[in-house]
Amino acid sequence: MSKWLETAIFYEIYPQSFMDSNNDGIGDFKGIISKLDYIINTGFNAIWLNPCFDSPFGDAGYDVRDYKKTAERYGTNDDLKQLFDECHKRGMHILLDLVPGHTSVQHEWFKESMKAEKNEFSDRYIWTDSIWEHPEGVSCIRGISDRDGSCGVNFFSNQPALNYGYANPTRPYQQKPTDPAPMATRAAIKDIMKFWLDMGCDGFRVDMAGSLVKCDPEYKETIKLWQDINGYLKSYYPEAVMVSEWGEPKYSLQGGFAMDFLLHFGQEGYNSLFRCEEPFFSKRGKGTASVFAREYYENYKTAKENGGIICIPSGNHDMDRLARGRDHDELKCCFAFLLTMPGAPFVYYGDEIGMNYVEGLTSVEGGYNRTGSRTPMQWDRTPNYGFSKADKRMLYIKQDNSPSAPDVLSQTGDENSLYNTIRQLIEIRKNHPALLNYSEFEILSFEYPLVYRRYCEDEEIIILINPKNETAEYNLDKTGEIIYSLGEGAKISDNKVTVPKSGAVFIKIR
Ligand code: GLC
Ligand code: CA
Repeated sequence: MSKWLETAIFYEIYPQSFMDSNNDGIGDFKGIISKLDYIINTGFNAIWLNPCFDSPFGDAGYDVRDYKKTAERYGTNDDLKQLFDECHKRGMHILLDLVPGHTSVQHEWFKESMKAEKNEFSDRYIWTDSIWEHPEGVSCIRGISDRDGSCGVNFFSNQPALNYGYANPTRPYQQKPTDPAPMATRAAIKDIMKFWLDMGCDGFRVDMAGSLVKCDPEYKETIKLWQDINGYLKSYYPEAVMVSEWGEPKYSLQGGFAMDFLLHFGQEGYNSLFRCEEPFFSKRGKGTASVFAREYYENYKTAKENGGIICIPSGNHDMDRLARGRDHDELKCCFAFLLTMPGAPFVYYGDEIGMNYVEGLTSVEGGYNRTGSRTPMQWDRTPNYGFSKADKRMLYIKQDNSPSAPDVLSQTGDENSLYNTIRQLIEIRKNHPALLNYSEFEILSFEYPLVYRRYCEDEEIIILINPKNETAEYNLDKTGEIIYSLGEGAKISDNKVTVPKSGAVFIKIR
């Protein structure tokens, strides 16, 4: 286990939308560096940076053209190294986004692999032997090469699938994960990881980590592959952290990842809390946390067996903003939960001020409906909310022009703001060992209020969360002292706890 992950609280930065230092309308490394003090003052001590590599940006950088070179618009490799150094100076850690499953169609490997003549890269991607045959288990691109064959794609049609083999090959074009070409792909990815770790990054968030080996329903071969890669990495960098975008901790954590996310795809639990017709976290109070609780337990058990943890992110660049359809009281409730659960918290930039999902935008760089969650950060009330001094029309994505658009500066000055509530919650988490990432967890009730216990050797805290717009009561079989409450009227008498509407109560038992 990496020591630093025990107390890590992450902030996800979408580089193009965070802070623009040279006024071209797009965020960059120097902009991020200028805001590191903001990040650390808010309470975060770790960063996940979305892809910042050379790319034609067909999928906002998840289509990498050169894995070892940063995109010019963000700055040079040296600037990125400076970002690593500035993070470390402040005691922070930073994860890059690794996209091991596919590249851009413009990657040199792909250009070589499209050629009719056999070469070193012919089998770097998944190709069938004839244009008339589709690769199994994936979509494909066809008809763009001299080479006779169809090439598998993982996501958009401009993201050809790298070849890590098939779990159980049945056709001549399908290779075993341990055949020479899939092993060469694996070696190339290891080499890329080592390149950035040598430069100073602290690990990776791994894109679509469950998708590498094809037709692998139980993920047996994919898990083996990650065990190999994670093992290799740990031999060089024992403190490096690998976090998977997989959404199924019961599988991913067996592969040696330190942490996996609960996500909007895969299982239902996460959406049932935040993103469905009647989410649990709503004043309407019509949801339930029961689906989540059941799933979470199952995953939690395997996580423990594998020494891993599970992250419940506030959102990310692929989902609707947490603030879509929620007011700030509701958001505070969400964060009282997110910041007291086990696993390292991940907050998506702007969620700490409740940035809105911006409706009605035209897609930018393959964002489609995700574009509204990727708008430039709102720092203050100066033009472009202080994100950039460029002309408005040059901004990477149009910003929120609604009267309710929040900004950092205004919220900093308001002690009851969402921002200051989050700061306070982070502070509490840091000061209570029972609330840290690897401390224990048990659910006591999953209706309104949601009640759970966090504990470790030295401490026990009961958390009660009541998103509903109506006071809730809960009978505790223990007594304790209220150390934090959200909303008006929290009390505890004769073991009965009153949890305010859209509120929360934290009780220290020992
Ligand atoms: C992941 C990324 C997403 C990207 C996709 C393809 O889900 O989070 O933004 O489009 O992978 O790389
Ligand atoms: Ca810029």
